[in-house]
Amino acid sequence: MPAPLPRLEDLPDLRGARVLVRAELNAPLEQGRVSDDLRITTTIPTIEWLRERGAAVALAAHLGRPKGEVRGEFSLAPVAERLGALLGTEVPLAPSATGAATAALVASLGEGEVLMLENLRFDPGEEGNDPAFAANLVAPFDLYVNEAFGASHRAHASIVGPPRVLPSAAGLLLRREVEVLGGLLDAPERPFVAVLGGSKVSDKLGVIDALLERCDTILVGGAMAFTFLAAQGHPVGDSLLEADRVEDCRRLLATGRVEVPVDVVIAQEIAEDADHEVVGAGAIPDGWKGLDVGPETAAIFADRIATARTVLWNGPMGVFEVAPFAGGTLTVAEAVAECPGFTVIGGGDSAAAVRRMGLASSIDHVSTGGGASLELLELGDLPGLAALRLGRDA
Ligand code: 3PG
Repeated sequence: MPAPLPRLEDLPDLRGARVLVRAELNAPLEQGRVSDDLRITTTIPTIEWLRERGAAVALAAHLGRPKGEVRGEFSLAPVAERLGALLGTEVPLAPSATGAATAALVASLGEGEVLMLENLRFDPGEEGNDPAFAANLVAPFDLYVNEAFGASHRAHASIVGPPRVLPSAAGLLLRREVEVLGGLLDAPERPFVAVLGGSKVSDKLGVIDALLERCDTILVGGAMAFTFLAAQGHPVGDSLLEADRVEDCRRLLATGRVEVPVDVVIAQEIAEDADHEVVGAGAIPDGWKGLDVGPETAAIFADRIATARTVLWNGPMGVFEVAPFAGGTLTVAEAVAECPGFTVIGGGDSAAAVRRMGLASSIDHVSTGGGASLELLELGDLPGLAALRLGRDA
């Protein structure tokens, strides 16, 4: 693994300092309210650590993909409200991430006070990694903390810009994420079983190749399994298929360490009341699509997980939000929760699934990064981590 990250403990002169904390607060909203606050609660220890030492904290974050335009539905107001309730203090929302009004609010912060800046992605300079935007963003601050593991695979202005200018450190959550996920690459206890699901195999090929160098078995579910089934010569009906990836899947199956479903739940539509059936993996008729792994597959996967010393799970086994297609994901979630080995959920939909099922507290680490955790596992580093290590030498 690359060199360690600079730590909070190494930051100079915290009392009275104005600290820009880039956080991962891209939380799901339902009817204008935060519906899952994992990414907010996990940021609190760093905020409190800084406040206890007399710093004033301004949080910079993105929400959704407003594509450089100010759009009300992507305001961070609901996140500021939830954070304020959790901290038990008011968290006002600055009108934008940069500008005179925001700079004045930052300047007025007292020791231990917290401010939230409005969505970074309302300005095209954020995703464009515009140096002028980064310069305006850091202008009112003395120090920078990256606590946005989930966004550290993006070379965006707020992620890679500030460490070039301000004394900088990794937040507590960022460090834990890198320790846990990096540990899977360095010295995982064997047997190491990875469970991968989700829709597209093309998004996961890189990580599968990287994991095959470290783990003993990869269990594949979700819609991506159908490209593997096609590679085994099975008809897949109307299931999701990436025809241009069949050859890659054939190569991965030839390793003998990638296991795919032996049965699947099929239906003609995705609906709570859809007619559905369990069929063998080679027996999906035309006009039907696979929407979950079947019970026999789920039981085999659960057995593999039960005897593993290390488990990594990323991606649901089926359309778990819709009851008839939730069984595979539920069985895998329960197996991971019961596994006595070291268990890690690689963020995204599988993190949402274990939280919804009330099983998150039985998992050793639920990552707050979806794309970021996969990219770290695949490449061993992320732009945001490299920027912190290089610091002002960049
Ligand atoms: C996430 O939700 O995975 C991160 O916040 C990154 O979001 P993005 O894919 O829109 O860059």
